[in-house]
Amino acid sequence: MRINVLCSSIKDIKCDLLVVDHFEGDKKLSGLAAEADKSLNGLIAILRRDGEIDGKLGKITLLHCPGNLKAKKIAVVGLGKRDKLDLDAIRQIASAVINKAREVRAKKIAIAVPVSQKINSEEAAKATVEGSVLGFYRFPGYAKEKEQPDFIVEELVLFECDKGKIKALKEGAELGRIIAEAENHARDLVNSPSNKLTPTGFSRLAGQIAKVNKLKFVSLDPRKEGMEALVSVAKGSDEPPRLVAIEYKGNPKSKEKIALIGKGITFDSGGISLKPSKNMGEMKTDMAGAAAVLGIMSLLSDFKPKKNVIGIMPLTENMPSGHATKPGDVVGSLSGYTIEVVNTDAEGRLILADAITYAKKRGATKMIDIATLTGGCIVALGDAASGIIGNDQELIDQLKKIGDRCGQKLWQLPLYDEYKEMMKSNIADLRNSSDTGKAQPSAGAAFLSKFVGDTSWAHLDVAGTAYLSKPGKYLAEGATGVPVRTIIEWLLK
Ligand code: BES
Ligand code: ZN
Ligand code: ZN
Repeated sequence: MRINVLCSSIKDIKCDLLVVDHFEGDKKLSGLAAEADKSLNGLIAILRRDGEIDGKLGKITLLHCPGNLKAKKIAVVGLGKRDKLDLDAIRQIASAVINKAREVRAKKIAIAVPVSQKINSEEAAKATVEGSVLGFYRFPGYAKEKEQPDFIVEELVLFECDKGKIKALKEGAELGRIIAEAENHARDLVNSPSNKLTPTGFSRLAGQIAKVNKLKFVSLDPRKEGMEALVSVAKGSDEPPRLVAIEYKGNPKSKEKIALIGKGITFDSGGISLKPSKNMGEMKTDMAGAAAVLGIMSLLSDFKPKKNVIGIMPLTENMPSGHATKPGDVVGSLSGYTIEVVNTDAEGRLILADAITYAKKRGATKMIDIATLTGGCIVALGDAASGIIGNDQELIDQLKKIGDRCGQKLWQLPLYDEYKEMMKSNIADLRNSSDTGKAQPSAGAAFLSKFVGDTSWAHLDVAGTAYLSKPGKYLAEGATGVPVRTIIEWLLK
């Protein structure tokens, strides 16, 4: 989908679908809706009076008689209540519009970005494009026979008659496009079945992305690096594990280095602590953290933030077999700490432990890990927010604030000493699960904190947000790409 920004009046726009919007509860039509209404002999006003057009957020009424406008069809879209319009509402509106365009097979659509006192033109353009690109995404899949051939919306035009706003609109639109496309790429990886995306395949892809972006890349064999915790998870699988790192140096003179660490379990069967078979297929998404990190790293050469960033992706399957780690086993780790593996399904923290130690060895001064870590986080927060836990309140507050604006909410959970106590073992330095099932997200983070030490750190538990089993506000069911947008914005701030 091409994205264009045009300085034009509503009357001169040529397109297949022209979008005009209006607020719920407004007494009179205003702005473009009022202008369009004049060309339509008052039809919008009549439909409003009848209650067919009510301004409810994302509701679309299609008009097939464009009057003397140069558009083939008009979509009247509701913006919801005036005081409730925020960036996420704009994403939702744009997604509804783009999916309507797909339905009515409109190749070129034109939309004026909604603005308000709280939202400037650049932000509105960015959110409009994000909503369109993210909302239009469907995982292509592998079917030979398709019910309907894919329809592509070829062009999205953002138009504005005030010349002075065009530059801001262009900048916002371009930012939104680049970020949303990277997020969609991460969604493709998460939606891919585990036989199509193995640790080896993921590592190869990461190598290609690093090469295109001219970034330093290593793909390590954890069995040769002393990464015993990571290897203990991989032992039951025939697929060899990898640990991949991509480094971007935006401020070579500085010693500061941000590590982004993503859990990359390409399939989590639970291992010997086998998961129930119902919905086990969803565990192909247990590498959503690694996919997000790769998506973020792929953007840095475009945006060139003046920061040093290393993306670290520990990759393996978690499978049961005669070679697999068994509950009760004690394993080592890159840090030297020993771990009693009480539950082989608490494998994410094992691979992250070695990735965190590796990040410190590579000089990380600040760390953010992203992981589909615990079912308990889904129990607590559903798919409304990811959990955030850490030892640096300033970092957590920054991420939370940006997450809100990005439509990727983060909710802080505690890291009390009680949870650290729960993760102590009688026969090793740590155990990977208390097996009481209590406070899982915090207990998982408490385990990780032992490897983090004093380094500034935030842990994002995206178990509930990385994958939607039903369509969301503007995302189709399946992978969401969380939290690519939030972390990129944080790196750019
Ligand atoms: N990958 C899962 C967590 C998960 C569950 C992600 C559902 C997405 C959807 C993780 O490896 C796991 O199995 N965690 C255990 C931890 C427990 C054994 C302490 C869990 O959630 O039950
Ligand atoms: Zn697991
Ligand atoms: Zn897992």
